[in-house]
Amino acid sequence: MKALILSGGKGTRLRPLTYTGAKQLVPVANKPILWYGIEALVNAGVYDIGIIISPETGGEIQKKTGDGSRFGANITYILQENPDGLAHAVKIARPFLGDSSFVMYLGDNLIADDLSQYLDEFTTKNLDALILLRKVSNPSAFGVATINDYGEVLELVEKPKYPQSNLALVGIYFFSPEIHNSIETLKPSARGELEITDAIQSLLLSKKLVSARKLQNWWLDTGKKDDLLEANRIILDTNLSAENLGSIEEKSQIIGRVKIGKNTRIINSTIRGPVIIGENCYLENCFIGPYSSIADNVKLTETDLEHSVILESAEVLGIQQRIVDSVIGQRTKIHLALKRPKAVSFMIGDDSQIELI
Ligand code: TTP
Repeated sequence: MKALILSGGKGTRLRPLTYTGAKQLVPVANKPILWYGIEALVNAGVYDIGIIISPETGGEIQKKTGDGSRFGANITYILQENPDGLAHAVKIARPFLGDSSFVMYLGDNLIADDLSQYLDEFTTKNLDALILLRKVSNPSAFGVATINDYGEVLELVEKPKYPQSNLALVGIYFFSPEIHNSIETLKPSARGELEITDAIQSLLLSKKLVSARKLQNWWLDTGKKDDLLEANRIILDTNLSAENLGSIEEKSQIIGRVKIGKNTRIINSTIRGPVIIGENCYLENCFIGPYSSIADNVKLTETDLEHSVILESAEVLGIQQRIVDSVIGQRTKIHLALKRPKAVSFMIGDDSQIELI
């Protein structure tokens, strides 16, 4: 059994963060989204992992993630010149996949369920495809499956205008090598991509064994800012254990589950967990509320924030208003010079969003 993680693509929905970096490396609770997928595969006993990368962000993914030894896996990087679709990614990975069955995992997806149960079902039932489904309120934004009472898949449609069900395809699939024959017959869809839903639909039409299972727990597709904040909230809620490797100084107070990295100084501040703070950070006169993740080398003074993600080397100085539901990009500087400013001065990158509420 092999795995193919898709970490190419454009990441348009997470701009501006994805102008300078890969969507799959955006951290959730200070760990790249992609690494959760790698760990889930290794936990299920899948060690031979191919990662699809794009020319724009592939180097960064490769540098950060390495050859897989840190996860106990063996990683092969596969360059996809253009994001021509999920099935196109499988097509170009054929030399890596050979005639092996494989798990296909979208590098921006996160699930709570253990993959082993699905992998067991896929192998013991000798299936050609096992897809995972989850009820959603906006099925038109996803690949949608219609199933019968026995869980048999009747039809799959990519982003239907008039969906026949509210069951969306989760970005994790199990395939036998039969999928390659289906992909060979595909033509690009209306949006110009080779669609994996079309490939599975073609397996169905040729009466191959396709089965579906509904996920038991949460699924997050970290495509947009609110998805990212939600993923951060859930991971901090479920996976964080308290640890302090930094120094808590003066009248600081740490309440609840808080993880603090090496060489981080917390001065005269209150931190109310669940919160994760990386290494080499400096926090003075701050209140950091629940569901916040602060990456390495961040400086915060006179700042009050909650339910927010602050990326590496950002600085937020002297902001008296509470910062909520925010994502602040790498090396960003927000600085309030006066207590009651009469004017504000900006130097903000393309596609940024600022709400003064
Ligand atoms: P999407 O989120 O559907 O596409 P995208 O990354 O281009 O994002 P956006 O819609 O914001 O522009 O892709 C799902 C995952 O699959 C994501 O990790 C990128 C990856 N992918 C590839 O590796 N190759 C491809 O050809 C496509 C379409 C996606």
